[in-house]
Amino acid sequence: MRRPSLLLLATATLLAAAAAGVRAGPEMPQAAAALGMRAGPEMPQAAAAAGVRAGPAMPQAAAAAGPPVKLSPDFYSQSCPRAERIIAEVVQSKQMANPTTAAGVLRVFFHDCFVTGCDASVLIAPTHFAKSEKDADINHSLPGDAFDAVVRAKLALELECPGVVSCADVLALASRVLVTMTGGPRYPVPLGRKDSLSSNPTAPDVELPHANFTVGRILELFTAKGFTVQEMVALSGAHTLGFSHCQEFASRIYDYKDKTGKPAPFDPSMNPTYAKGLQAACKEYQKDPTIAAFNDVMTPGKFDNMYYVNIERGLGLLSTDEDMWSDLRTRPFVERYAANNTAFFDDFARAMEKLSLFGVKTGADGEIRRRCDAYNSGPNAL
Ligand code: HEM
Repeated sequence: MRRPSLLLLATATLLAAAAAGVRAGPEMPQAAAALGMRAGPEMPQAAAAAGVRAGPAMPQAAAAAGPPVKLSPDFYSQSCPRAERIIAEVVQSKQMANPTTAAGVLRVFFHDCFVTGCDASVLIAPTHFAKSEKDADINHSLPGDAFDAVVRAKLALELECPGVVSCADVLALASRVLVTMTGGPRYPVPLGRKDSLSSNPTAPDVELPHANFTVGRILELFTAKGFTVQEMVALSGAHTLGFSHCQEFASRIYDYKDKTGKPAPFDPSMNPTYAKGLQAACKEYQKDPTIAAFNDVMTPGKFDNMYYVNIERGLGLLSTDEDMWSDLRTRPFVERYAANNTAFFDDFARAMEKLSLFGVKTGADGEIRRRCDAYNSGPNAL
């Protein structure tokens, strides 16, 4: 049951937030592609030159084509014991300076893992010679701040233990740090992932869910990768953070037509006040495609279960969010998580750990990149 009366309590806040929208500043989505991750003044030459050394710090199996290495939370306990602390310090200060970082990193992590596994393939910058996952349409809106956070963490690591910690592990740990920092659960992150040796520019648009997909189609994508309906709903709780550009939900608020082609002022599954607030906020979105709205209009910067409460109230931003209410396969989980934050945190934590292990590469299937945006050798190497 929807509970529209509850909404009245929050209408003023909600409208203010929705109407304010969020404008992507110079560091936000538009800058993502341009920012890339090229060697700037911050890139110590020593780190770039360090290469991957198989020393005492480097697990032998990483250098030789031996048996696959088993992932473990203690993987770097000998080779780079302060790895997690270093990553945490860098990304936490980045998050304090740019509070959109957490959402960005979390989305980058999802886009990495769902396309050829958690192997940092999404971090590879395109060059004149080879495209990369960053060229896929769906990845154009990945925010520059997120890539910047990973680059900075990797640079700091390279100073302390060069050639030891993979970019895939940096991304996995950075995501965990930022989920926890914004109020979410802490979950185990087994380590020892290798970085990919390829980055396919067409795969992301095929493998990742789009905002105009039906729940059925999204479930197909998730179940094909071994995730359950419950895990899909729990992982979508990541939309408790961050924002979406107006173009992602414009068809719900302008020139809306239902499945039979019948027009309506906006998608009738939306709370009317919310829909009108978004119409006003996004008015200029075609002229200014950087305009965006918070995914969770009530508590946008806090990792909590409000995303599910919003869905119950018709305050889901994307049609894919709101459709989890109308679809009877997903609704029971939306109800459960809306009613019980602990249940959401438990299931999100388990699903994130599972996601972080999806398709990981170990042993000779990958490498430890010297820098996260380029292979150590090959077409995208710098
Ligand atoms: C279930 C299907 C999903 C769909 C259709 C979907 C779609 C989207 C879309 C369209 C955006 C807005 C992007 C933009 O305009 O910049 C977005 C943002 C976001 N997504 Fe998803 N997503 C899904 C699942 C997930 C999952 C599983 C995660 C993480 C575990 C995730 C994390 C995020 C985050 C954190 C943001 C905010 C990004 C930011 O503020 O920069 N999404 N998603």
